[in-house]
Amino acid sequence: MKITQKQRFLNAIRKQQELNDRPPIWFMRQAGRYLPEYQEIRQNKTFEQLIQNPEIATEITLQPIKRFDLDAAIIFTDILTPLYGLNIGLTIKPGVGPIIEKTVQKPEDVEKLEITTPEEHYPYLIEEIKQTRNKLEQHALIGFSGAPFTIASYLIEGKSTRDASKTKAFAWKYPKAYKQLLEKTTQILINKLLVQIENGVDAIQIFDSWALYLSQKQYEELAMPYVQKILHHPQIKDIPKIYYSRGTAHLINKIKRLGADVLSIDNTMTISEVLKTTDNQKAIQGNLDPAVLLSTPKITRYETLKVLNEGENAPGYIFNLSKGIIKDTPIENVEAMVKTVKKFKEA
Ligand code: CP3
Repeated sequence: MKITQKQRFLNAIRKQQELNDRPPIWFMRQAGRYLPEYQEIRQNKTFEQLIQNPEIATEITLQPIKRFDLDAAIIFTDILTPLYGLNIGLTIKPGVGPIIEKTVQKPEDVEKLEITTPEEHYPYLIEEIKQTRNKLEQHALIGFSGAPFTIASYLIEGKSTRDASKTKAFAWKYPKAYKQLLEKTTQILINKLLVQIENGVDAIQIFDSWALYLSQKQYEELAMPYVQKILHHPQIKDIPKIYYSRGTAHLINKIKRLGADVLSIDNTMTISEVLKTTDNQKAIQGNLDPAVLLSTPKITRYETLKVLNEGENAPGYIFNLSKGIIKDTPIENVEAMVKTVKKFKEA
């Protein structure tokens, strides 16, 4: 009997790699600007107009599935979506990234912060998940959120941070308000995750993009407890959970204890190192450098095979990139990567 894409993906998460004909594949930012069909819809529209229109967002979610028949789709939205609807002047500026005008500066700003819900503040996401789920039966569907520290850093710094210095300073100056901010952010993210789970996503991924700036001690105090609160939530703990971070080799001994089923790693760690550190107890996702995809199909095939061979030793393995695919990536290199994964283990 032929295995479905969803089964292949779930087998890897459940560490039943031996049931799979080959590793499942999806990749971060798979629906995005390297795709001509995305560029076409994006023309004359803002990013917000795309994610706030369920029909368009659903179509974009499905674009990479239609083109490459990947094993999993990821809902097209952003980690910052739960912050639209707060009166903070959030926009995602092309070529710049997210900008927030009214940032959190003082304890009073935390007091005023509303805990958003999808129902009230971004109902378009609910409709998008429903429509996408209806159109995807064989493939896995991934829901996601940011991690509390990463989202709080956007609220404090107002943009993608280069060092999290303002966030750390806030935590030192106002320890009580920092905790309150992180508690509120955690609740906001739980609300986003629950609506995705209720509407049938097969797994969730937590993006902790800015954890890399924390020391071990800082991670333990400023970030970890809140991720754990999410992953151990009674309505979240039983769904497959992937934790993504990058540049966090120094944090791996903490990350392995978060309660995630899958660790999504970048190439500052090798898959073998992480397997050793985790005593082969975790499924692994990753970790091809997306810069490889700026080279040639031949180099892409070679580098993809190296990653696949390392992944073979994991109890569960999902092929992915170290971080999001780069905008100028030639499609032929993506095709070479996908084909190499699909033909892996085919004798
Ligand atoms: O992966 C996917 O295909 C699903 C959709 C998705 C987006 N952003 C769409 C998006 C996901 C999972 C994200 C996560 C995200 N967003 C992260 C965590 C992952 C990471 O990259 O570390 C972060 C930090 C953000 C915040 C954000 N949103 C940034 C920094 C940017 C600008 C930089 C960039 O790559 O363009 C965005 C905008 C954004 N989010 C785009 C997309 C497709 C580009 C929109 C466009 O201009 O068309």
